[in-house]
Amino acid sequence: MHAVKTLNKISPKGTTLFGKEYSVSDSIEKPEAILVRSAQVDTDSFSEELLAVARAGAGVNNITIDKASAKGVCVFNTPGANANAVAELVFTTLGIALRNIHKSLAWIGGLQGKEDKEIGEAVEKNKSAFVGTELSGKTIGVVGLGKIGVLVANGAIGRGMKVIAYEPYPSISNMILLNNTVSVTQSLDELIASVDVLTVHVPFIKGKTEGLLNENNLAAFKGAYILNFARNGIVSEKGVAEFLAKNKNNAYLTDFPSKSDLANQQVISFPHLGASTEEAEDNCATMAVEQLKDYLEFGIVRNSVNFPALDGRPSASTKSRVVVINNDVPNMIALISKVFGDAKINITSFKNESNGKIGYNFIDIAESVTQELVNSLVKIEHIIRVRTIEF
Ligand SMILES: NC(=O)c1ccc[n+]([C@@H]2O[C@H](COP(=O)([O-])OP(=O)(O)OC[C@H]3O[C@@H](n4cnc5c(N)ncnc54)[C@H](O)[C@@H]3O)[C@@H](O)[C@H]2O)c1
Repeated sequence: MHAVKTLNKISPKGTTLFGKEYSVSDSIEKPEAILVRSAQVDTDSFSEELLAVARAGAGVNNITIDKASAKGVCVFNTPGANANAVAELVFTTLGIALRNIHKSLAWIGGLQGKEDKEIGEAVEKNKSAFVGTELSGKTIGVVGLGKIGVLVANGAIGRGMKVIAYEPYPSISNMILLNNTVSVTQSLDELIASVDVLTVHVPFIKGKTEGLLNENNLAAFKGAYILNFARNGIVSEKGVAEFLAKNKNNAYLTDFPSKSDLANQQVISFPHLGASTEEAEDNCATMAVEQLKDYLEFGIVRNSVNFPALDGRPSASTKSRVVVINNDVPNMIALISKVFGDAKINITSFKNESNGKIGYNFIDIAESVTQELVNSLVKIEHIIRVRTIEF
């Protein structure tokens, strides 16, 4: 029986996939796996049984990744599962801002209780106060061409906008989906200086993407809208304040409001609603559960943020799979193989993958694993964790 602790409400579309071999609840004491949305997870606060944490969502800054890696705990996320929900909200919000929908809703609320004639007259007299502009023909700058950034860039092209995008680490799987009329620049400063609307879709990484948009580079921005549906801290508070102060028509549209944002009429903010759709919650939960099951049952790694990907179900003759997690240093494969050779155990399949930090191995054998073998493996310097799975 595998024990899975849920730290947030997770869509039953996902949790029902666990099946009878799993005990899943929010009160599990020594979980093998954690399923989480946005709750904070300090992996060191769980017992040594913890093997994996799956985040039903994209951002993982609520999880202690370095601590997890040091103990051989695999952390998963669900890239792309909520991308459409975020991209749709980006355009909804832009529409609200450009057409002054938020201001007109507030104003029209004040007509409550008035008679039809009076409402009709007030509407016609005052509608000019809410004249807006259109998306079509404007230039949007998309910072980050990941799952969400690509959908936003393509969606903007579909709305008649010009798109300039910036992505320092382009991935083939995302770039092949990008509309070929999107212009990609190597310079964030050039992008900022050339667009009417700026939207950011990168992860928050302390010391890296923290303050990626800030008072220095935003000084060159001549547009009126900055959108942050990524994370708080990616756009600096000072940068936002100076941008808003530059022109009373400038607006900051964010899913992550700060105290000063809430006090500012030029900010349109939401309570972290980007991924809050039924579809996104179902997609994320399903993907997170499928990945966790594959990891717990077979050691398979898909969409981990700290472990290298490694696929492969065991062959029919495999009795045990030894999963070895090590620091990614030279000679590990030789040292691991030697332990099996010394024990006169024939390896039927050896798979290894590494990501520069973690080395991850499957060693399949046609017999049961002894504690002695595990002890010999654990003794090797740089081995972080050894797991055995019996079939
Ligand atoms: N508002 C919400 O509810 C919500 C929902 C989902 C995701 N998000 C946020 O959106 C972010 C992006 O999500 P995604 O699914 O597109 O992730 P993703 O991993 O597919 O894409 C992120 C992209 O940012 C790029 N990047 C990294 N550092 C960069 C830098 N310095 N400059 C420019 N690009 C950089 C990466 O190379 C990658 O292509 C997530 O990390 C998360 O914080 C918010």
